[in-house]
Amino acid sequence: MMGRPKITVVGAGNVGGTTAQRLAEKDAYDVVLVDIVEGVPQGKALDISQAGPVCGYSTRVVGTNSYDETAGSSVAVITSGIPRRPGMSRDELLATNAKIVKSVVTELVSRSPEIILILVTNPLDAMVHVARRVSGLPKSRIIGMAGVLDSARMRSFIAAELNVPGPEVQAMVLGGHGDKMVPLPRYTTVKGKPVSELMSKEKLDAIIKRTCDGGAEIVGLLKSGSAFYAPSASAVDMIEAIHKDQKRVLPCAVLCDGEYGLNNVVVGVPVKIGRGGAEQIMEYELTVDERASLEASANAVRELCATVDRLMA
Ligand code: NAI
Ligand code: 2OP
Repeated sequence: MMGRPKITVVGAGNVGGTTAQRLAEKDAYDVVLVDIVEGVPQGKALDISQAGPVCGYSTRVVGTNSYDETAGSSVAVITSGIPRRPGMSRDELLATNAKIVKSVVTELVSRSPEIILILVTNPLDAMVHVARRVSGLPKSRIIGMAGVLDSARMRSFIAAELNVPGPEVQAMVLGGHGDKMVPLPRYTTVKGKPVSELMSKEKLDAIIKRTCDGGAEIVGLLKSGSAFYAPSASAVDMIEAIHKDQKRVLPCAVLCDGEYGLNNVVVGVPVKIGRGGAEQIMEYELTVDERASLEASANAVRELCATVDRLMA
């Protein structure tokens, strides 16, 4: 009998620990949780395993400080790094997290050459760029998680405003995972109806602004650490799309090679996700203004990547 696919989660902190828990609850994967801190991945893996009899899953969850147990992983979610603290910009995380991501990717790929990497560590788009530089993997197998989260925030704000169930709201947020992200109200619908027909422009503008500030809002409330329930849910949604070969179109950070007129830059675009990873970038028709916003967002990512290239030289 074929074994279950092995999913590695690197970083056993808030996002990584919750991702491992959500994966275990699917009862469809083997999960390996890796962290640099001794005891933490082992303790969380044990704890998640002990919830199995109560929750009805029998997922094998291994916690470790080594990469040997990750060999043969189909997907790895990389959450290792330092989180953004109140008042700290995503960009300030750049130097430390680039070093961490570089070493983690090298360890993973050497043991699982067929792996698909889902990057979560911030600054997200620049970390996808780092993974591309060091991994040697095809672009279809290096995917950044941000758009699913940013879109989920927009969906939940719209759902609350209109008093409808969140899953009935569809939204698409493109661009880099930063202040210049590009929510697309024209591609935002509630049960198929354009959102612009369901609320005033003022309300929609306020929701768009709140979406762009969504990460900072939670950092400000938590005081220490950043969001992890919706981020882990978003990463697991991407893993499910891969393993079930769903070919769903999700906004993900991938390398653009001419799509949307963007060349050689990692940025959030609609991507068909299936067994091959990022199988195809879907080119939605954009207005002149939407295209300009996407370009501005891509340019902000380019600047970050130039800095990271300088730091890594
Ligand atoms: P956290 O601090 O709770 O967890 C990070 C974990 O990484 C810690 O357990 C730490 O020991 C571990 N770590 C550090 N260096 C490591 C290394 N070299 N190898 C293995 N593990 C290592 O942080 P949290 O909240 O889990 O966030 C993780 C990252 O994800 C942050 O960079 C955060 O900004 C980012 N993030 C990105 C989101 C996105 O939309 N892309 C959403 C939420 C968080
Ligand atoms: C977020 O958007 C911190 O990037 C993370 O919540």
